[in-house]
Formats: sequence, C-alpha cells, structure tokens
Amino acid sequence: MARLAVFASGNGSNFQAIAETFQKQNTHETALLVFDRKKAPCRERAERLGIPAEYVRYPGHSREEAETEILKILQNHNIDMIALAGYMRLFTPVLIDGFPGKIINIHPSLLPKHPGTDGICDSFRSGDAELGITIHEVDYGMDTGPVIVQKSFFRSETETLESAAGKIHALEHRWYPEVILDLLNSLRR
Ligand code: GRF
Repeated sequence: MARLAVFASGNGSNFQAIAETFQKQNTHETALLVFDRKKAPCRERAERLGIPAEYVRYPGHSREEAETEILKILQNHNIDMIALAGYMRLFTPVLIDGFPGKIINIHPSLLPKHPGTDGICDSFRSGDAELGITIHEVDYGMDTGPVIVQKSFFRSETETLESAAGKIHALEHRWYPEVILDLLNSLRR
C-alpha cells in the first residue's frame, strides 16, 4: 500500500474526491494533507475524513526553506507520491528533485492552453469549442510538465461560466483519483 500526500491551498474538493475513492477501494492511502493557508476549507475536510493535515508556513521564509520543511514532513509520514490539487505555489528544485517524477498536478484547462491561476475563466472566455482538464507531471515551470491524461467536452450552445466550471470539476473528481491510483499501482517500492 503506497502513501499519498495531497497539497491544497483552498477548497479541497479534489482532495476529498481522492480520499473518498481511496477509502472505498482500500488500496492505497491518502496519508496526508499539506496546506499553506491556515483558514483553507481543505483543512476541515481533512479533519472530517480523519486524515492528518500539516500546515506549512511560507511568509518570512524563502521557498527553499519552506520546501526543506515540507521534505521533513513528507519523510515523517513516509510519503511515496505527491498530488497537487489547487496548491497555489511553484516549487524550487529542493522539492522537485527531492521527489523526482513523483509529483503530479491537475489543471482545469487543456494545457498548453491557458496555464496559470485561472484556467477555467481563461479557457471559457477564450471561446475555445473544447474545454477540459489536464493531469500532468510537475517540472520546474508553471503547468509545463509532461501530460499524463487530458479529458474534455465540447461547450454547449447555452454554456455559461458556471455550467462549464461544474463540468470541469466533475471531470476532475471523476479522473484524478483514478489516474493517481494507476500511478501508485505502478510504483516500485
Ligand atoms: C481545481 O480546479 C484544480 O484543477 C486547480 O485548482 C482547483 C482546486 O479545486 N488546480 P479544489 O480545491 O480541489 O476544489
């Protein structure tokens, strides 16, 4: 059984979808939530789900110092892989090289289109006919790592930002847990 850490900064709906899928399937473990905003709702979700949560303080520290702290936390919890789910930070080589090839992210657009912090609005406003999600490996750039899976839909004639966002989140919750499970199954421990 491999141990996953999910990193989130906000709502945490993907974290919850992953944790519930894992708990149902009883294969691998969502062993830890790492969060960087004290009042983030993901923290309460972790409490309700009975999953340990560790707050990481960035203000007053360099990113490298914060990531050195994160590496210690991950080691203490015996973490095998990291899934970012709405974690609003870029990593330095300290963390990326500490977990080579084992950090993945989900982004709410069809990368390389619309990277950055507002993938849903940016893709909706672009007028693209096809919208969707990307699950990818994390490298040193912002939303630039190799793509693992993309899922998409075509916008309807009556599509609104809200309806598109709902479809995007539904795709995320449907596919992210499954892709992570596949990756964990293929890990050599
Ligand atoms: C998701 O749309 C994800 O694609 C993006 O951040 C959002 C996080 O949502 N990276 P939630 O916190 O999991 O609800």
